[in-house]
Amino acid sequence: CGAGARSCGWLCVSPGLSPGQELWVPLCGSLCSEAADMLGLMNYMEVMRLFTTVEIVPPTSDENVTVTEAEFNSVPVRLFLPRRAPGGLRRAIVYFHGGGWCMGDAGDYDHMARRFSNELDAVVVSVNYRLAPPHHFPVQFEDVYSVTKFFLQSKVLSQYGVDPARVCVAGDSAGGNLAAAVAQELLEDAEVQTKLKAQVLIYPALQALDLALPSYQDNAHKPILSRSLMVRFWSEYFSSDPALREAMASNTHVPPEASALWPLLNWSLWLPPDMRGAHRPSSPVWGGAELARRHPGLLDPRASPLLASQARLRGLPPAFVLTCEHDVLRDDGVMYAARLRDAGVPVTHHHAKDGFHGAVTFLTWPLELALGHRLFNTCLGWLRDNL
Ligand SMILES: *[C@@H]1O[C@H](CO)[C@@H](O)[C@H](O)[C@H]1NC(C)=O
Ligand SMILES: *[C@@H]1O[C@H](CO)[C@@H](O)[C@H](O)[C@H]1NC(C)=O
Repeated sequence: CGAGARSCGWLCVSPGLSPGQELWVPLCGSLCSEAADMLGLMNYMEVMRLFTTVEIVPPTSDENVTVTEAEFNSVPVRLFLPRRAPGGLRRAIVYFHGGGWCMGDAGDYDHMARRFSNELDAVVVSVNYRLAPPHHFPVQFEDVYSVTKFFLQSKVLSQYGVDPARVCVAGDSAGGNLAAAVAQELLEDAEVQTKLKAQVLIYPALQALDLALPSYQDNAHKPILSRSLMVRFWSEYFSSDPALREAMASNTHVPPEASALWPLLNWSLWLPPDMRGAHRPSSPVWGGAELARRHPGLLDPRASPLLASQARLRGLPPAFVLTCEHDVLRDDGVMYAARLRDAGVPVTHHHAKDGFHGAVTFLTWPLELALGHRLFNTCLGWLRDNL
């Protein structure tokens, strides 16, 4: 990969990128932690955290945005408040960061949140929800839900100068999963008067039942997010039980009860023909009855928003869904966009043919790419027009 590569650690990848767009990714974390895990030295996620929490980004205000930290319903959040004099009530974005429910924090997304805040004149609430391990589903969901509910109270919105008609939820990857789940849950919450204006789902993970979708098969070994890492994230979201992880790895974790739900996530029904490739329809192995009893989250739409019925989707706010071709999660997002559209929800589905998982966060040196800027600006543009 040329000069500059450190022996253990930096991998140069170019999935579908144009020539010259080399990308250097610190993959040392995942390689070394697999090894540590085999040796039983440390929990995989603990090791991953050592490698990925390279830099703690403190909340620092700049000329445009005041950045502070607070707690909403006892959950820590980082707040981004535009500094310029308000021209009226502002938009707001409640943002849930990615990291497989196991990693990351609002600091890692500081740059993105700051730009949303400055360029959209929006209040951004970036949530530091609790992570796995030790916390498992539904803790992550409950944390982000309780922050959203707290923020949507009229007195809180008015305290921050926010227009109740212009609030959205947004997130990437596991955060996109949480955003979709929060939007669904709010529909049935009689205590919340404020309705979301929009939902932004950036390469979201939306179902834990079919981990052999065409996109999982096509991209099993793509960088940033391999199939085995995604299996690890999903299983850790529910439990650290190795039996669950092993069953998910072989896609034999699907309980027989799920057969009734299969039409909701059967890719043969929901993927457009040009995205099915040469894949043939296949049936899951209906095993996993015992696992589903131990881990009821497997069948819970708060973990797998694709398990919500068509009727339930109908009330959802307009959605922006970003999917990337080179991504195990591609089909989750594509199917959700198709199902939302079928339910009558206005959907903007942006599919990046040259995109890969995580690309939107590649905005600053040393992980900066034209692709990252382009995809981020696409999200930003949609929010400018729709929030
Ligand atoms: C402040 O906003 C202006 C206009 O959007 C921008 O050009 C400038 O880079 C911003 N400053 C910082 C520190 O981001
Ligand atoms: C998925 O849909 C296809 C096409 O309608 C159908 O042939 C297949 O049996 C379905 N799979 C399951 C497991 O229901």
